[in-house]
Amino acid sequence: MLIDKNISTPLYIQLYENIKDMIDKDQLKAGEKLPSIRSLAKKLEVNNITIVNGYKLLEQEGYTYSIKGSGTYVKPHNYGLDTPYMEDGDIELMIGGILPMSKDNINFASVSPTPEIFPVEEFKQSLVEVLDRDKGNAFIYPEINGYKPFRESISIFMHENYNMNIDKDEIQIISGGQQGIDIITKTLISQGDCVLVENPTYSGAIAAFKSRGAKIIGVPMLKDGLDLEVLNNRIKRYNPKLLYIMTNYQNPTTYSYSEHTKNKLIELSKQHNFYIIEDDFLTDLNYSKDKKTPLKSIDNSDQVIYIKSFSKIFMPGVRIGFMTVPQKLFKDIIRVKHTTDISSSGFLQRAFDLYLRKGYWKKHIENIKKVYTNKYNIMVKELKKLYKYGVTFEEPYGGLSIWLKLPKDIDSIDLYNECGENNVSIVPGKIFFINDTIYSNYIRLSFGAVSEEEIIHGIRVIENYFKKTYKEDNNKYLPFI
Ligand SMILES: Cc1ncc(COP(=O)(O)O)c(C=O)c1O
Repeated sequence: MLIDKNISTPLYIQLYENIKDMIDKDQLKAGEKLPSIRSLAKKLEVNNITIVNGYKLLEQEGYTYSIKGSGTYVKPHNYGLDTPYMEDGDIELMIGGILPMSKDNINFASVSPTPEIFPVEEFKQSLVEVLDRDKGNAFIYPEINGYKPFRESISIFMHENYNMNIDKDEIQIISGGQQGIDIITKTLISQGDCVLVENPTYSGAIAAFKSRGAKIIGVPMLKDGLDLEVLNNRIKRYNPKLLYIMTNYQNPTTYSYSEHTKNKLIELSKQHNFYIIEDDFLTDLNYSKDKKTPLKSIDNSDQVIYIKSFSKIFMPGVRIGFMTVPQKLFKDIIRVKHTTDISSSGFLQRAFDLYLRKGYWKKHIENIKKVYTNKYNIMVKELKKLYKYGVTFEEPYGGLSIWLKLPKDIDSIDLYNECGENNVSIVPGKIFFINDTIYSNYIRLSFGAVSEEEIIHGIRVIENYFKKTYKEDNNKYLPFI
C-alpha cells in the first residue's frame, strides 16, 4: 500500500482509496480483517488518526464494518451503508412471507402465529352480523381516523386491560403496525433527521426510516432496555426527532424494559423534545405472573406515539391496528394516512369492533396464551440442552421468540445454512443489527408457527450441528463476553 506525503490529497483519503481499490479487485476478501490501527500507522509512518479517519470513511461508504473490541472487517458485496446484513436478501423476504418457504420446513423464522389457532369461527360470526346489521353501510368510505364505535371500544379495552387512558379521538386506525411506523416517519422525518433505534432492532422499521432519508443511529439494547448512558450521549450528539422502541419482548432480543428505564425514557423525551414510537406487538403474550405494561401507560405528556399491531396476537391478514396521535400532530397524521390508503377497511373495523364488544378478544388471548405457554416451555427445555456447547439465552417468559447467543467462533450464517439443508429455517441475528455494531453469533428462533413435535425435531437438528463441530475441536467454544 502506497501513501504519498508529497501530493495534496489528504493521507486518510489516499488510504481509503487504496483499501477500497483492493476490496473492489477482490485482493481483500469479504470477512477479512484489516490491520489494527496502530500497526498500520506504524507501517505507513503516519498518525493513528489518519488510519482512524480512513477506516471511518470506508465504513461510511459501506466497504467495511467494525466489531467493538475486535477490529474492522471487509463487508460482503451486498452489504450496504446503514443497512441490516443481507438487506433485500432471501432471509428477510422469507421472514416477511414474500419468498415462499418449503412447506416441509420447520419454521423457526416466522414470528407469525399458525392459522390453526386463528379464531375463525368467532370472527366469521362478527363479519356476518355486521353484514346483516349495516348492509351497504359496511362498505362506505370510513372516517380517515377510523370507525368511531371501534375507536371507542379500543379506548375502553386499553383502559380495562392496560390502565391506559386514551380517548377515542386520540386514536388513529391503521392497516397494521408497519403502516403506523411508515405514517409517523412520513409525518415527522425529513432527509437527514436523526432517528434513534434499539440495536439490534426490527428491520421493517429501519426500512421505513431509510425510505425518508433518516440518519439512523443505534443504541445498544441491554437486558432491561436501552443502555441509558449511551442513549444520553447519542441524544446530546444527534438531537433526534424520534426514538423507536419495543417495550416488551423486543424484536429480536426478547428483552423487556424495567420500570426504571421506562421512566427515564419519558423524562429524556420531555427534556430533549423528541417523540418515542412504542411498537407494541406482543405485550399481551405474557407467560409469567409479573404484569407487563406498555410505556404509554405512564406517559402523561403525550411524548409516546403508541402503535398496537394485532398481527401476532390475532390474525396478520386482517391488517388492522391502531396508534395514538399526539394532539399537535393530529392534522398532519390524518393527511398522511389519507395519502397512504385513504382509510383502513371499514368492514373489518366494524367486525373487529363487534368482536371486542362481545368479549371474544379476552377469550382468544387466554386461549393462545395456553397454546404458546406450552410451546414456550418445550422450547426452553430443549434449548437448555445446548448449554453444554456454550449456547446461552435469557428466558423472556413471554412473546414468541428466543434470542440465542452462540459461542464466539460460530457464525450464525453457517448454522443457518446447515439448518436450511435439513429443512429447518432460523434467522441469523446479523440482519437485525445496524451500522457499527454487528454481532454474528446470534440467532432468533420463533415458535409461533411450529408444532411441539417440530420444536423437538428442529432443535435436534441445531444440536447435531453443534455436536459435529464441537467434536472437531473440543476447546473451540469459548464463552462470548
Ligand atoms: C416489531 C414489529 N413491528 C411491526 C411489525 C409489522 O406488523 P403488522 O403486521 O402489524 O404490520 C412486525 C412484523 O413482524 C414486527 O415484528
